[in-house]
Amino acid sequence: MKEKKAMNRIKIFDTTLRDGEQSPGCSMNLREKIDVALQLERLKVDVIEAGFAIASLGDFNSIREISSAVRDVTVASLSRAIPKDIQTAYEAVKIAKRPRIHTFIATSDIHMTYKLKMKPEDVLLRATDMVKYAKTLCEDIEFSAEDASRTRPEFLYRILESVIKAGATVVNIPDTVGYTTPDEFYRLIKGIKENVSNIHRAEISVHCHNDLGLAVANSLSAISAGASQIECTVNGIGERAGNAALEEIVMAIDTRKDFYHMTTNIDTKQIFHTSKLISKVTGNRVQNNKAIVGENAFAHESGIHQHGMLANSSTYEIMTPESVGITKNNLVLGKHSGRHALLERINTLGYQLSTEKLDDIFTEFKLLADKKKVIYDRDIEALIQEKAGKI
Ligand code: KIV
Ligand code: ZN
Repeated sequence: MKEKKAMNRIKIFDTTLRDGEQSPGCSMNLREKIDVALQLERLKVDVIEAGFAIASLGDFNSIREISSAVRDVTVASLSRAIPKDIQTAYEAVKIAKRPRIHTFIATSDIHMTYKLKMKPEDVLLRATDMVKYAKTLCEDIEFSAEDASRTRPEFLYRILESVIKAGATVVNIPDTVGYTTPDEFYRLIKGIKENVSNIHRAEISVHCHNDLGLAVANSLSAISAGASQIECTVNGIGERAGNAALEEIVMAIDTRKDFYHMTTNIDTKQIFHTSKLISKVTGNRVQNNKAIVGENAFAHESGIHQHGMLANSSTYEIMTPESVGITKNNLVLGKHSGRHALLERINTLGYQLSTEKLDDIFTEFKLLADKKKVIYDRDIEALIQEKAGKI
């Protein structure tokens, strides 16, 4: 008998309230942030990055409120590798049941030279000292090497080794500018596993931006190479082209669990509701063809697809709408739809027609569909009334 391989658990670190909120037009008020945090807890994410405590008093207060409102999830605040930032981050999260300080510094030559104006050796020293300091306040410390994907690997290995020695529990490898590709990112994470001698003492996290549309693919590559935490946002909101979309990563892992041998703790039935909540509070609607949560993600218009769907939904659906919390399947009726789909809808609407009457209505339906993009239930009912009389 074939032995069943154990599933590895991937942690989901949600940064909708920090990196997501940083994107233009996505700011939220205190009440909205608390509502989002409570929904993220229902979604069962492992970590909520609630904000950047030093950024403003508003951010500080909302992190503090979230820290006391949620119970079953780790709450993190971001901080630069500066004592005042770290202290403020800790003040904001310390009442959480599971607080985390997330501190970062840039490690690529381009960032160190032009942004930090610091020498690599000084960056290494600062990162190590700040992790040591954070560790005096809090047990759970995440360190991020900003712009890691453009950092010289040898330098990245050294800095990771040093911060882990200083007490980092999680080391995060951000693709800050969305520059890497799945093959390259896989090699980077493998390289870290093979070259950082104490890496087994920390969790490897990844944080991918979507500038080349590769954030989800890069995150999946990273877990294949050994990362066990993924940072992401609901609906993929975030700076520029956004961050890796939580719903896409979770459903890719869930749908292909036999391939990845991995799971998350996410209650996938909460995905759609969470997406709607984020759209509502940020005022940013998701595009119709957005994977998992877009209006058309489970809609089937062509006749062949509709026929297949009605015979067995696995023909054209790799997951069910119900699995992400959508309660009705959307067979959109339009000019590409066939008789099967029309008959099914007519029956659902409570009508039984003879084949002859169905033929009549189908002809009228096609004429109407040539003029209208989408045929609604009320159009079908009107056709039935007109052609078949009151049935
Ligand atoms: O994109 C990035 O590098 C970040 C870090 C601060 C984690 O958001
Ligand atoms: Zn980011």
